[in-house]
Amino acid sequence: MNNINRLFISKLGTIFILLINCICLNAQQKINPALIKDKMQWFADAKLGIFIHAGIYAVDGIDESWSFYNKKISYANYMKQLTGFTLKNYNPAAWAELIQESGAKYAVITTKHHDGVAMYDTKMNQLSTVKATPAKKDMIQPLFEELRKRNIKTGAYYSLIDWSHQDYPGFIKDSARYQVKNDYDRWNRFRHFFQSQIKEISIQFNPDLWWFDGDWEHSAEEWESEKVRNMILSKNPNAIINGRLQGYGDYATPEQNFPVSRPKDNWWELCMTTNDNWGFHHDNNWKTSYEVITIFVDAVANGGNLLLDMGPMEDGSIPKEQINVLKELGAWNKKNGEAIFNTIGGIPQGHYYGPSTLSKDSTSLYLFVHGKNSGEIMLKGLTNQIKDITVLGSSIKPTHKIVGKISWSHVPGLVYINLPEAALDKYITVIKLTFDNPVKLYSGQGGL
Ligand code: GLC
Repeated sequence: MNNINRLFISKLGTIFILLINCICLNAQQKINPALIKDKMQWFADAKLGIFIHAGIYAVDGIDESWSFYNKKISYANYMKQLTGFTLKNYNPAAWAELIQESGAKYAVITTKHHDGVAMYDTKMNQLSTVKATPAKKDMIQPLFEELRKRNIKTGAYYSLIDWSHQDYPGFIKDSARYQVKNDYDRWNRFRHFFQSQIKEISIQFNPDLWWFDGDWEHSAEEWESEKVRNMILSKNPNAIINGRLQGYGDYATPEQNFPVSRPKDNWWELCMTTNDNWGFHHDNNWKTSYEVITIFVDAVANGGNLLLDMGPMEDGSIPKEQINVLKELGAWNKKNGEAIFNTIGGIPQGHYYGPSTLSKDSTSLYLFVHGKNSGEIMLKGLTNQIKDITVLGSSIKPTHKIVGKISWSHVPGLVYINLPEAALDKYITVIKLTFDNPVKLYSGQGGL
Protein backbone atom coordinates (compact mmCIF):
# COMPACT_ATOMS: atom_id res chain seq x y z
CA MET A 1 0.00 0.00 0.00
CA ASN A 2 1.47 3.37 -0.87
CA ASN A 3 1.42 6.41 1.43
CA ILE A 4 -1.45 8.08 -0.36
CA ASN A 5 -3.62 4.99 0.09
CA ARG A 6 -2.61 4.73 3.74
CA LEU A 7 -3.50 8.38 4.29
CA PHE A 8 -6.82 7.86 2.55
CA ILE A 9 -7.68 4.83 4.69
CA SER A 10 -6.69 6.60 7.91
CA LYS A 11 -8.82 9.65 6.93
CA LEU A 12 -11.69 7.28 6.17
CA GLY A 13 -11.22 5.74 9.63
CA THR A 14 -11.39 9.16 11.29
CA ILE A 15 -14.54 10.06 9.38
CA PHE A 16 -16.07 6.71 10.36
CA ILE A 17 -15.25 7.28 14.07
CA LEU A 18 -16.67 10.82 13.90
CA LEU A 19 -19.80 9.45 12.30
CA ILE A 20 -20.24 6.79 14.97
CA ASN A 21 -19.66 9.43 17.67
CA CYS A 22 -22.26 11.59 16.09
CA ILE A 23 -24.81 8.79 15.94
CA CYS A 24 -24.08 7.77 19.55
CA LEU A 25 -24.31 11.37 20.69
CA ASN A 26 -27.72 11.77 19.16
CA ALA A 27 -28.94 8.50 20.59
CA GLN A 28 -27.48 9.40 23.97
CA GLN A 29 -29.10 12.80 23.95
CA LYS A 30 -32.41 11.04 24.27
CA ILE A 31 -31.38 9.06 27.30
CA ASN A 32 -28.71 11.12 29.02
CA PRO A 33 -30.17 14.16 30.83
CA ALA A 34 -26.67 15.52 31.48
CA LEU A 35 -26.19 16.07 27.75
CA ILE A 36 -29.36 18.07 27.30
CA LYS A 37 -29.19 20.00 30.57
CA ASP A 38 -27.73 23.16 29.02
CA LYS A 39 -30.27 23.52 26.27
CA MET A 40 -33.09 22.84 28.77
CA GLN A 41 -32.07 25.66 31.11
CA TRP A 42 -34.28 28.37 29.64
CA PHE A 43 -37.21 25.97 29.74
CA ALA A 44 -36.55 25.09 33.38
CA ASP A 45 -36.42 28.79 34.28
CA ALA A 46 -39.42 29.80 32.16
CA LYS A 47 -42.21 28.25 34.26
CA LEU A 48 -45.04 29.69 32.19
CA GLY A 49 -45.89 29.17 28.54
CA ILE A 50 -49.02 30.04 26.58
CA PHE A 51 -50.51 27.40 24.31
CA ILE A 52 -52.49 28.67 21.32
CA HIS A 53 -54.95 26.39 19.58
CA ALA A 54 -55.79 28.30 16.42
CA GLY A 55 -57.76 26.41 13.79
CA ILE A 56 -60.83 26.23 11.60
CA TYR A 57 -62.72 24.49 14.44
CA ALA A 58 -63.17 28.00 15.90
CA VAL A 59 -65.61 28.85 13.09
CA ASP A 60 -68.39 26.66 14.49
CA GLY A 61 -66.83 26.55 17.95
CA ILE A 62 -66.62 22.74 18.02
CA ASP A 63 -64.06 20.20 19.30
CA GLU A 64 -60.77 20.65 17.51
CA SER A 65 -60.42 17.90 14.86
CA TRP A 66 -61.96 15.30 17.18
CA SER A 67 -65.50 16.41 16.28
CA PHE A 68 -65.40 14.68 12.88
CA TYR A 69 -63.21 11.82 14.09
CA ASN A 70 -65.77 11.10 16.82
CA LYS A 71 -68.64 11.50 14.34
CA LYS A 72 -70.20 14.52 16.05
CA ILE A 73 -70.20 16.20 12.63
CA SER A 74 -69.57 14.80 9.13
CA TYR A 75 -66.12 15.34 7.64
CA ALA A 76 -67.67 17.38 4.80
CA ASN A 77 -69.43 19.72 7.21
CA TYR A 78 -66.33 20.03 9.36
CA MET A 79 -64.29 21.10 6.33
CA LYS A 80 -66.93 23.69 5.39
CA GLN A 81 -65.48 25.71 8.26
CA LEU A 82 -62.55 26.51 5.93
CA THR A 83 -64.74 29.08 4.18
CA GLY A 84 -65.49 30.87 7.45
CA PHE A 85 -61.93 31.26 8.70
CA THR A 86 -61.14 34.95 8.10
CA LEU A 87 -58.55 36.11 10.68
CA LYS A 88 -59.83 39.58 9.85
CA ASN A 89 -58.91 40.92 13.29
CA TYR A 90 -55.68 38.95 13.70
CA ASN A 91 -53.19 41.14 15.53
CA PRO A 92 -50.02 39.17 16.32
CA ALA A 93 -48.45 42.17 18.08
CA ALA A 94 -51.42 42.38 20.46
CA TRP A 95 -51.23 38.61 21.07
CA ALA A 96 -47.53 38.82 21.86
CA GLU A 97 -48.18 41.82 24.09
CA LEU A 98 -50.80 39.90 26.06
CA ILE A 99 -48.53 36.86 26.34
CA GLN A 100 -45.76 39.07 27.65
CA GLU A 101 -48.13 40.74 30.09
CA SER A 102 -49.11 37.33 31.52
CA GLY A 103 -45.47 36.77 32.46
CA ALA A 104 -45.07 33.82 30.07
CA LYS A 105 -41.62 33.18 28.69
CA TYR A 106 -42.67 31.02 25.75
CA ALA A 107 -45.66 30.42 23.51
CA VAL A 108 -46.61 27.37 21.48
CA ILE A 109 -48.99 27.67 18.53
CA THR A 110 -50.64 24.99 16.40
CA THR A 111 -48.93 24.87 13.02
CA LYS A 112 -51.20 21.95 12.09
CA HIS A 113 -53.74 20.03 14.16
CA HIS A 114 -55.06 16.47 13.59
CA ASP A 115 -57.46 17.84 10.93
CA GLY A 116 -54.47 18.47 8.66
CA VAL A 117 -55.07 22.18 8.09
CA ALA A 118 -51.71 23.95 8.09
CA MET A 119 -51.73 27.41 9.66
CA TYR A 120 -48.86 28.44 7.36
CA ASP A 121 -48.10 28.28 3.64
CA THR A 122 -47.17 24.63 3.24
CA LYS A 123 -45.92 23.64 -0.18
CA MET A 124 -46.81 20.01 0.48
CA ASN A 125 -50.53 20.32 -0.30
CA GLN A 126 -53.37 22.83 -0.69
CA LEU A 127 -54.77 22.44 2.82
CA SER A 128 -53.63 25.59 4.55
CA THR A 129 -55.00 28.85 5.89
CA VAL A 130 -53.15 30.52 3.01
CA LYS A 131 -54.59 28.47 0.16
CA ALA A 132 -57.89 27.16 1.47
CA THR A 133 -59.42 29.90 3.64
CA PRO A 134 -60.47 33.52 3.07
CA ALA A 135 -57.83 34.53 5.64
CA LYS A 136 -55.15 33.83 2.97
CA LYS A 137 -52.59 34.20 5.73
CA ASP A 138 -49.68 32.45 7.35
CA MET A 139 -50.35 32.80 11.07
CA ILE A 140 -46.98 31.60 12.29
CA GLN A 141 -44.28 33.92 10.93
CA PRO A 142 -45.85 37.22 12.09
CA LEU A 143 -46.51 35.82 15.56
CA PHE A 144 -42.99 34.41 15.92
CA GLU A 145 -41.58 37.80 14.87
CA GLU A 146 -43.62 39.62 17.51
CA LEU A 147 -42.69 37.07 20.17
CA ARG A 148 -39.01 37.29 19.32
CA LYS A 149 -39.10 41.09 19.56
CA ARG A 150 -40.16 40.58 23.17
CA ASN A 151 -37.64 37.82 23.96
CA ILE A 152 -40.35 35.22 24.23
CA LYS A 153 -39.34 31.76 23.01
CA THR A 154 -41.29 30.32 20.11
CA GLY A 155 -42.91 26.90 19.99
CA ALA A 156 -44.49 24.99 17.12
CA TYR A 157 -47.23 22.47 17.90
CA TYR A 158 -47.33 19.89 15.12
CA SER A 159 -49.74 16.98 14.89
CA LEU A 160 -48.11 13.86 13.50
CA ILE A 161 -51.60 12.55 12.90
CA ASP A 162 -53.20 13.97 9.77
CA TRP A 163 -56.71 12.61 9.40
CA SER A 164 -57.28 14.56 6.16
CA HIS A 165 -54.33 13.19 4.24
CA GLN A 166 -55.22 10.50 1.71
CA ASP A 167 -52.13 8.49 2.60
CA TYR A 168 -52.67 8.63 6.36
CA PRO A 169 -54.14 5.35 7.68
CA GLY A 170 -56.48 6.77 10.34
CA PHE A 171 -59.53 8.83 9.38
CA ILE A 172 -62.71 8.50 11.41
CA LYS A 173 -63.10 6.32 14.46
CA ASP A 174 -63.95 2.75 13.44
CA SER A 175 -62.96 3.40 9.82
CA ALA A 176 -59.30 3.51 8.91
CA ARG A 177 -58.17 3.97 5.29
CA TYR A 178 -55.70 1.08 5.46
CA GLN A 179 -53.20 -0.67 7.77
CA VAL A 180 -49.51 0.24 7.57
CA LYS A 181 -48.48 -3.41 7.46
CA ASN A 182 -50.63 -3.96 4.35
CA ASP A 183 -49.38 -1.01 2.35
CA TYR A 184 -45.91 0.16 3.21
CA ASP A 185 -45.55 2.22 0.04
CA ARG A 186 -48.55 4.29 0.95
CA TRP A 187 -47.22 4.78 4.50
CA ASN A 188 -43.87 5.81 3.04
CA ARG A 189 -45.61 8.45 0.96
CA PHE A 190 -47.22 9.84 4.10
CA ARG A 191 -43.89 9.75 5.94
CA HIS A 192 -42.31 11.75 3.16
CA PHE A 193 -45.19 14.23 3.42
CA PHE A 194 -45.09 14.83 7.17
CA GLN A 195 -41.32 14.89 7.41
CA SER A 196 -41.23 17.44 4.60
CA GLN A 197 -43.66 19.62 6.52
CA ILE A 198 -41.42 19.39 9.58
CA LYS A 199 -38.50 20.48 7.39
CA GLU A 200 -40.56 23.40 6.09
CA ILE A 201 -41.43 24.55 9.60
CA SER A 202 -37.87 24.09 10.71
CA ILE A 203 -36.46 26.13 7.80
CA GLN A 204 -39.14 28.83 7.70
CA PHE A 205 -39.69 29.43 11.40
CA ASN A 206 -36.83 27.73 13.28
CA PRO A 207 -38.84 27.17 16.48
CA ASP A 208 -37.11 27.10 19.86
CA LEU A 209 -39.43 24.30 20.89
CA TRP A 210 -41.33 21.56 19.07
CA TRP A 211 -44.59 20.36 20.55
CA PHE A 212 -45.50 17.11 18.81
CA ASP A 213 -48.88 15.53 19.30
CA GLY A 214 -50.69 12.38 18.26
CA ASP A 215 -47.72 10.00 18.44
CA TRP A 216 -49.97 7.36 20.03
CA GLU A 217 -51.32 6.21 16.65
CA HIS A 218 -47.97 4.73 15.53
CA SER A 219 -44.71 3.37 16.93
CA ALA A 220 -41.33 5.15 17.04
CA GLU A 221 -40.20 2.95 14.14
CA GLU A 222 -43.22 3.83 12.08
CA TRP A 223 -42.86 7.57 12.66
CA GLU A 224 -39.07 7.29 12.37
CA SER A 225 -38.92 9.33 15.56
CA GLU A 226 -35.15 9.20 15.88
CA LYS A 227 -34.73 10.48 12.33
CA VAL A 228 -37.25 13.26 12.98
CA ARG A 229 -35.40 14.26 16.14
CA ASN A 230 -32.06 14.33 14.36
CA MET A 231 -33.53 16.27 11.46
CA ILE A 232 -34.69 18.98 13.85
CA LEU A 233 -31.45 19.05 15.81
CA SER A 234 -29.33 19.23 12.68
CA LYS A 235 -31.00 22.54 11.86
CA ASN A 236 -31.12 23.80 15.45
CA PRO A 237 -29.14 21.79 18.01
CA ASN A 238 -30.74 23.78 20.83
CA ALA A 239 -34.31 23.04 19.83
CA ILE A 240 -36.30 21.47 22.64
CA ILE A 241 -38.66 18.62 21.74
CA ASN A 242 -41.63 17.63 23.89
CA GLY A 243 -42.20 14.06 24.97
CA ARG A 244 -44.74 13.07 22.33
CA LEU A 245 -42.32 11.61 19.82
CA GLN A 246 -42.50 8.05 21.08
CA GLY A 247 -39.53 8.24 23.46
CA TYR A 248 -37.44 10.75 21.52
CA GLY A 249 -38.45 13.92 23.32
CA ASP A 250 -36.77 15.94 26.04
CA TYR A 251 -39.53 16.48 28.58
CA ALA A 252 -42.82 15.04 29.84
CA THR A 253 -46.23 16.55 29.05
CA PRO A 254 -48.97 15.54 31.48
CA GLU A 255 -52.22 16.85 30.04
CA GLN A 256 -55.10 18.35 32.05
CA ASN A 257 -54.48 15.95 34.95
CA PHE A 258 -52.55 17.50 37.82
CA PRO A 259 -49.73 15.50 39.33
CA VAL A 260 -50.38 14.89 43.04
CA SER A 261 -46.93 13.61 43.91
CA ARG A 262 -43.86 15.23 42.44
CA PRO A 263 -43.05 13.86 38.97
CA LYS A 264 -39.70 12.09 38.71
CA ASP A 265 -38.92 13.64 35.31
CA ASN A 266 -36.18 16.24 35.15
CA TRP A 267 -38.39 18.51 33.09
CA TRP A 268 -42.13 18.48 32.78
CA GLU A 269 -44.93 20.74 31.72
CA LEU A 270 -48.61 20.54 32.55
CA CYS A 271 -50.71 21.64 29.59
CA MET A 272 -54.13 22.87 30.54
CA THR A 273 -57.18 24.56 29.04
CA THR A 274 -58.78 27.72 30.50
CA ASN A 275 -62.27 26.25 30.02
CA ASP A 276 -62.78 22.62 28.98
CA ASN A 277 -61.57 22.94 25.39
CA TRP A 278 -58.36 23.68 23.53
CA GLY A 279 -59.83 25.64 20.66
CA PHE A 280 -62.48 28.36 20.76
CA HIS A 281 -65.66 26.61 21.87
CA HIS A 282 -69.11 27.47 23.13
CA ASP A 283 -68.21 26.20 26.55
CA ASN A 284 -68.43 28.45 29.56
CA ASN A 285 -66.76 26.33 32.17
CA TRP A 286 -64.01 28.88 32.72
CA LYS A 287 -61.43 28.31 35.41
CA THR A 288 -61.22 31.33 37.70
CA SER A 289 -58.02 33.37 37.98
CA TYR A 290 -57.62 32.02 41.51
CA GLU A 291 -57.84 28.44 40.23
CA VAL A 292 -55.39 29.06 37.39
CA ILE A 293 -52.88 30.77 39.71
CA THR A 294 -53.07 28.01 42.32
CA ILE A 295 -52.55 25.34 39.64
CA PHE A 296 -49.64 27.31 38.20
CA VAL A 297 -47.98 27.63 41.60
CA ASP A 298 -48.54 23.95 42.28
CA ALA A 299 -46.80 22.98 39.03
CA VAL A 300 -43.82 25.27 39.70
CA ALA A 301 -43.50 24.09 43.33
CA ASN A 302 -43.30 20.54 41.98
CA GLY A 303 -40.52 21.44 39.58
CA GLY A 304 -42.66 21.86 36.46
CA ASN A 305 -44.06 24.43 34.03
CA LEU A 306 -47.59 25.36 33.12
CA LEU A 307 -48.58 25.64 29.45
CA LEU A 308 -51.86 27.51 29.67
CA ASP A 309 -54.06 27.35 26.61
CA MET A 310 -56.05 29.96 24.79
CA GLY A 311 -58.32 29.36 21.80
CA PRO A 312 -58.74 32.38 19.54
CA MET A 313 -61.88 32.90 17.48
CA GLU A 314 -61.95 32.52 13.68
CA ASP A 315 -61.40 36.28 13.19
CA GLY A 316 -58.29 36.17 15.35
CA SER A 317 -59.73 37.78 18.46
CA ILE A 318 -59.17 36.24 21.87
CA PRO A 319 -62.17 35.52 24.12
CA LYS A 320 -62.45 38.15 26.86
CA GLU A 321 -62.42 35.53 29.64
CA GLN A 322 -59.01 34.35 28.48
CA ILE A 323 -57.69 37.89 28.21
CA ASN A 324 -58.85 38.47 31.76
CA VAL A 325 -57.15 35.33 33.17
CA LEU A 326 -53.89 36.19 31.42
CA LYS A 327 -53.95 39.74 32.75
CA GLU A 328 -54.72 38.65 36.31
CA LEU A 329 -51.97 36.05 36.12
CA GLY A 330 -49.64 38.76 34.83
CA ALA A 331 -50.45 41.16 37.65
CA TRP A 332 -49.86 38.41 40.19
CA ASN A 333 -46.56 37.45 38.50
CA LYS A 334 -45.43 41.07 38.50
CA LYS A 335 -45.79 41.20 42.24
CA ASN A 336 -44.73 37.65 43.11
CA GLY A 337 -42.56 36.58 40.17
CA GLU A 338 -39.42 36.47 42.30
CA ALA A 339 -40.82 33.29 43.87
CA ILE A 340 -41.58 31.74 40.47
CA PHE A 341 -39.16 32.53 37.65
CA ASN A 342 -35.61 31.17 37.81
CA THR A 343 -36.43 29.19 40.95
CA ILE A 344 -36.34 25.47 41.64
CA GLY A 345 -39.05 23.20 43.09
CA GLY A 346 -39.66 23.60 46.80
CA ILE A 347 -39.09 21.62 49.98
CA PRO A 348 -40.58 18.12 50.33
CA GLN A 349 -44.15 17.72 51.48
CA GLY A 350 -44.67 17.56 55.22
CA HIS A 351 -42.43 20.48 56.24
CA TYR A 352 -45.00 23.05 55.15
CA TYR A 353 -48.63 22.37 54.28
CA GLY A 354 -48.63 24.19 51.01
CA PRO A 355 -46.53 24.75 47.90
CA SER A 356 -43.04 26.25 48.11
CA THR A 357 -40.09 27.09 45.86
CA LEU A 358 -36.40 27.79 46.46
CA SER A 359 -33.92 30.22 44.96
CA LYS A 360 -31.33 28.37 42.88
CA ASP A 361 -28.76 28.61 45.70
CA SER A 362 -31.44 27.47 48.19
CA THR A 363 -30.79 30.37 50.56
CA SER A 364 -34.29 31.77 49.99
CA LEU A 365 -37.42 29.78 50.64
CA TYR A 366 -40.77 30.97 49.30
CA LEU A 367 -43.93 29.74 50.99
CA PHE A 368 -47.22 30.16 49.12
CA VAL A 369 -50.27 30.88 51.23
CA HIS A 370 -53.62 30.29 49.52
CA GLY A 371 -56.65 32.51 49.78
CA LYS A 372 -57.56 34.32 53.00
CA ASN A 373 -55.30 32.26 55.21
CA SER A 374 -53.80 34.79 57.62
CA GLY A 375 -52.50 34.07 61.13
CA GLU A 376 -49.98 31.48 62.22
CA ILE A 377 -48.21 29.62 59.42
CA MET A 378 -46.22 26.59 60.59
CA LEU A 379 -42.94 25.27 59.19
CA LYS A 380 -41.39 22.03 60.46
CA GLY A 381 -37.84 20.73 60.54
CA LEU A 382 -35.99 23.91 59.55
CA THR A 383 -32.43 23.73 60.91
CA ASN A 384 -31.26 27.11 59.51
CA GLN A 385 -31.20 30.35 61.41
CA ILE A 386 -33.72 32.71 59.81
CA LYS A 387 -32.07 35.90 58.60
CA ASP A 388 -35.17 37.68 57.40
CA ILE A 389 -38.86 37.15 56.68
CA THR A 390 -40.76 39.34 54.23
CA VAL A 391 -43.97 39.21 52.22
CA LEU A 392 -43.49 39.79 48.48
CA GLY A 393 -45.01 43.05 47.31
CA SER A 394 -45.73 44.26 50.85
CA SER A 395 -43.83 46.39 53.35
CA ILE A 396 -45.46 44.59 56.28
CA LYS A 397 -43.00 42.35 58.06
CA PRO A 398 -44.38 39.20 59.64
CA THR A 399 -43.06 38.25 63.07
CA HIS A 400 -42.12 34.70 63.95
CA LYS A 401 -41.56 32.47 66.93
CA ILE A 402 -39.61 29.22 67.36
CA VAL A 403 -41.68 26.78 69.36
CA GLY A 404 -40.58 23.68 71.23
CA LYS A 405 -36.84 23.81 70.62
CA ILE A 406 -35.17 21.58 73.21
CA SER A 407 -31.68 22.86 74.00
CA TRP A 408 -30.01 19.45 74.13
CA SER A 409 -31.74 17.97 71.06
CA HIS A 410 -30.66 18.21 67.45
CA VAL A 411 -34.31 18.27 66.38
CA PRO A 412 -35.22 21.84 65.37
CA GLY A 413 -38.20 23.67 66.85
CA LEU A 414 -41.30 24.55 64.90
CA VAL A 415 -41.40 27.93 63.16
CA TYR A 416 -44.64 29.88 63.55
CA ILE A 417 -44.90 32.86 61.24
CA ASN A 418 -47.55 35.41 62.00
CA LEU A 419 -48.94 36.59 58.67
CA PRO A 420 -51.06 39.73 59.14
CA GLU A 421 -54.30 40.00 57.20
CA ALA A 422 -53.24 43.35 55.74
CA ALA A 423 -50.33 41.65 53.96
CA LEU A 424 -52.52 39.19 52.09
CA ASP A 425 -52.56 39.03 48.30
CA LYS A 426 -55.85 38.80 46.40
CA TYR A 427 -54.98 35.26 45.29
CA ILE A 428 -51.84 33.75 46.80
CA THR A 429 -49.50 35.46 49.26
CA VAL A 430 -45.79 34.69 49.19
CA ILE A 431 -43.71 34.64 52.37
CA LYS A 432 -39.97 34.81 51.75
CA LEU A 433 -37.51 33.41 54.29
CA THR A 434 -33.80 34.07 53.83
CA PHE A 435 -30.88 32.20 55.35
CA ASP A 436 -27.10 32.51 55.40
CA ASN A 437 -26.67 29.00 54.07
CA PRO A 438 -28.66 26.70 51.80
CA VAL A 439 -31.78 25.39 53.47
CA LYS A 440 -31.23 22.26 55.54
CA LEU A 441 -34.15 20.28 56.82
CA TYR A 442 -34.60 17.72 59.53
CA SER A 443 -37.09 15.15 58.35
CA GLY A 444 -36.77 12.44 61.01
CA GLN A 445 -39.34 11.06 63.34
CA GLY A 446 -38.64 13.20 66.40
CA GLY A 447 -37.31 11.46 69.49
CA LEU A 448 -33.93 12.12 71.03
C1 GLC B 1 -54.57 16.02 22.91
C2 GLC B 1 -55.65 16.25 21.89
C3 GLC B 1 -55.43 17.48 21.08
C4 GLC B 1 -54.89 18.65 21.84
C5 GLC B 1 -53.75 18.25 22.72
C6 GLC B 1 -53.21 19.35 23.57
O1 GLC B 1 -53.50 15.37 22.40
O2 GLC B 1 -55.73 15.19 20.98
O3 GLC B 1 -56.61 17.80 20.45
O4 GLC B 1 -54.44 19.55 20.90
O5 GLC B 1 -54.14 17.21 23.54
O6 GLC B 1 -52.34 18.87 24.52
